[in-house]
Amino acid sequence: MSDTRAIVGHYTSGDLLARLEARLREDGVDPARPGADALAPYDHFHGRGLEATEDMAAQLRITAGDHILDVGSGLGGPARYLARRFGCRVSGIDLTDEFCAVARHLTALLGLDERVSITEGDALAMPYDDAAFDGAYSMNVSMNIADKRALYREIHRVLKPGAWLMLSEAAQGPGGAPDYPTPWARTAASSFLATEAETRANLEACGFAIESLRETTEAALAYGARSRRLVEAGGKPLHRAVSLIHGALAEDAAANSARALKEGRAVPIELLCRAVPA
Ligand SMILES: C[S@@+](CC[C@H](N)C(=O)[O-])C[C@H]1O[C@@H](n2cnc3c(N)ncnc32)[C@H](O)[C@@H]1O
Repeated sequence: MSDTRAIVGHYTSGDLLARLEARLREDGVDPARPGADALAPYDHFHGRGLEATEDMAAQLRITAGDHILDVGSGLGGPARYLARRFGCRVSGIDLTDEFCAVARHLTALLGLDERVSITEGDALAMPYDDAAFDGAYSMNVSMNIADKRALYREIHRVLKPGAWLMLSEAAQGPGGAPDYPTPWARTAASSFLATEAETRANLEACGFAIESLRETTEAALAYGARSRRLVEAGGKPLHRAVSLIHGALAEDAAANSARALKEGRAVPIELLCRAVPA
């Protein structure tokens, strides 16, 4: 069983909104009217940021009438992206109350209140009816959840039969455990990486049929190289969520994560599955 207080503590600073507003001002953006593009380096809090969200969206068939679930919605960047791109409704749920508050604030600023709603809660016991959603996704969340089968069973419960589930996360690779802190955990006690084989078996045991599974290590390395070139040329890195959220911890967390990627300890994967009707 994971200690959710340690996880919430890892992600909470108490002054996230003020720091985000300061970063936007440094970028020359009015924090009262940021626009989705200005927020994107900060509000897609997973490897490859907006690029990974765009890749995910390109694989999904979503229509304006769909109601989609974002499990572990963070600052809400992916939820707002899907709502804008497809005109769908997105409900996000997240354990970290500060993230939920900032996500709601940004959603209101972007005028998306009617299509994106954010609830504070645990993905293992979601306050939604059975078969409520047409699709669900979760980006870089399951690494904080020890009981994967409880997570997948709960997602399966709230999905309509035949609905899709897209996961992007770090899998345990052959190179051994990552060093900590990482962007998702301060210590190994809050980190639960599953191998690709374990993830497949867990999903299948919980009623999902896996349609595709791909490793995105090459894309992550290329993204990192592109970002470094920008910085060398005097610009800002492409992805700034880790430095925004983790402050003093960010440098070590980002370095450990980059090393884990290079050494095959944490392997980024992307899975598309379907809820098999019971
Ligand atoms: C690395 S962040 C990713 C946020 C978001 N998915 C994104 O990609 O921008 C991980 C998120 O998972 C949330 N989380 C971790 N365990 C959770 C749980 N049991 N239930 C709901 N959210 C959880 C954390 O609060 C955090 O916001």
